[in-house]
Amino acid sequence: MIGKPPERVGFIGLGIMGRPMARNLLKAGYPLTVWNRSRPGIDALVQAGAQEADSPRAVAEQSDAVITILGDSTDTEQVALGERGIIEGAHQGLVHIDMSTISPAVTRAIAERYAETGVEMLDAPVSGGEQGAIDGTLSIMAGGKEDVFERCRPLLEAMGKTLVYCGPHGSGQVVKLCNQVVVGLNNLAMSEALVLAAKAGVDPATMVEAVRAGAGSSWALHNLAPRILSGDFTPGFKVWQQQKDLRLVLELADQGHTPLPGTALVHQLFAALEADGLGEAGTQALVKALEKLANADVGAHGSAPSANAAH
Ligand SMILES: NC(=O)c1ccc[n+]([C@@H]2O[C@H](COP(=O)([O-])OP(=O)(O)OC[C@H]3O[C@@H](n4cnc5c(N)ncnc54)[C@H](OP(=O)(O)O)[C@@H]3O)[C@@H](O)[C@H]2O)c1
Repeated sequence: MIGKPPERVGFIGLGIMGRPMARNLLKAGYPLTVWNRSRPGIDALVQAGAQEADSPRAVAEQSDAVITILGDSTDTEQVALGERGIIEGAHQGLVHIDMSTISPAVTRAIAERYAETGVEMLDAPVSGGEQGAIDGTLSIMAGGKEDVFERCRPLLEAMGKTLVYCGPHGSGQVVKLCNQVVVGLNNLAMSEALVLAAKAGVDPATMVEAVRAGAGSSWALHNLAPRILSGDFTPGFKVWQQQKDLRLVLELADQGHTPLPGTALVHQLFAALEADGLGEAGTQALVKALEKLANADVGAHGSAPSANAAH
């Protein structure tokens, strides 16, 4: 017996990810109440058919489930527990689903505070980027009580294609941070291969075409390499955003005395990019740090293979 799925939905954090996710909930037929810190996010969703509320508290009062997708840990803490926060709108059956990428320890602390008022919480961070949010194909990794996750499944299915229950509170965030380890190291592996091919006199585009069809294949080779080879460093995901996530990874690793030498190196190379004023660039700019070390120019060779649409 898992209880009734939420019917009235609240949405807070109408940024790059939040807007298309909220639109997908409207498309799925959920009545939606929204709040955002600034006006443009609200206007976009009200135009699409959502109701506006004047605070996170008001959103909570009018909803069975409130979804947040904000920036970092302190932002979720503030919206959940701060003045006119979600907790002030607590009522029987309310679930807060936080889809931001934040610290697992902060998630657990918020869930504990909610438990005193009867509010349930799920951490449900996502992977798949803006395109995955638009297409409703996000990978969603959830932590919290399993029956609450099952109760919210229909809601999550309106935004994502792969839903994985990971364990108790904070487990979804831990899995998301594992995802960022893999993403960062695949980016580094791709960047090193591009620089090696260029320095050794092989067209990097030819290398990419061959390697991505075999055991060395990765999302980075399919999606980021073609952009690098066509000189496109505009962001899907920005360097500073990746650094925020890698800081969370290294903090978690430090707490458990877990050495992550590869991830630490990626974090340092991104720091070099930030020092060069590239914090707003897409994460494919990692190759620029290696080009500098090797005195190489990957883009000077040949033509770019095609990219997949999603990033
Ligand atoms: N972008 C991606 O590809 C991607 C992929 C996977 C996961 N994520 C994660 O998803 C989360 C959101 O990312 P995003 O790219 O959508 O970021 P974004 O475009 O910067 O949007 C952040 C949203 O949170 C709101 N916000 C931030 N701090 C707040 C605070 N203290 N109080 C109230 N509202 C606050 C912002 O309000 P304003 O509109 O007023 O600024 C905005 O609506 C992050 O945790 C990120 O790591 C992003």
